[in-house]
Amino acid sequence: MSNDYNTIKIAFFADVVGKPGRFALRDFLTKNSSQYDLVIANIENASHGFGLTEKNYNDFIEYGVDAMTCGNHIWDKKDIHEYIEKADRLIRPINYPYGTPGVGSRIIETKDGVKIGIINALGQVFMSIIDSPWKIIENEIKNIKQITPIVILDFHAEATAEKVCLGRYCSELGLSAFFGTHTHIQTADESIINGMGYITDAGFCGAGDGVIGMDYHTSLSRFLSALPQKYEIAQGNTVIVNGVVVEIDKNSGQTVNIKRIYETMNKVEETTK
Ligand SMILES: [Fe+2]
Ligand SMILES: [Fe+2]
Repeated sequence: MSNDYNTIKIAFFADVVGKPGRFALRDFLTKNSSQYDLVIANIENASHGFGLTEKNYNDFIEYGVDAMTCGNHIWDKKDIHEYIEKADRLIRPINYPYGTPGVGSRIIETKDGVKIGIINALGQVFMSIIDSPWKIIENEIKNIKQITPIVILDFHAEATAEKVCLGRYCSELGLSAFFGTHTHIQTADESIINGMGYITDAGFCGAGDGVIGMDYHTSLSRFLSALPQKYEIAQGNTVIVNGVVVEIDKNSGQTVNIKRIYETMNKVEETTK
């Protein structure tokens, strides 16, 4: 929780990868969640690296995650199509074609009743075909700002320049905070642009010894052989938790402080849930 009555603290955790990522986030939140007014996590890789099962969706709520964003991998587990319409904490990218199940933005309230608008969107550069996010995001920021001054965007994209340029554009539209995701590698450029908290990529939560959360040997074999091979989740003794905490003025919706989270921890026991 923020010590300042006029501000709130929002924690955002980048792509959670598999069981090592889920358990790392769970244990991090057990220690730290009392510091935050709202917790958001990108969960597109949470269920064995690809997508999100309904069970894991419910696990995250139990861990203290208030809202979940995602990305290109959100459709990888089949049961998402059955539960997404009732998953009222989940936000899928807003720039899927009209008629796609789920929603691309939500207003989530903190325990104290502060309304936070959250948007998720996909980039276009070096990504699969998707509708242009630019005007969709602009319209959605305007819509949400009729309800609350606090608006967050998780922009899930590969290309750094696309993220930087869209970030600057959003800062002119009154966005409160812009969190880049998808590369799984945290950038060190957290900053405040025109009152908007910004980071190009918040990183990932998962095994520290692999290749962006996946097993090194299977990744290596894919590169050396150029043959398709099933990815496996990395194991190993360490896990990392990557994210960002922003402190936002409740009245103006502007970020007054931004801090990266990069914590390395010992791997948790497999016997716990
Ligand atoms: Fe990811
Ligand atoms: Fe992704």
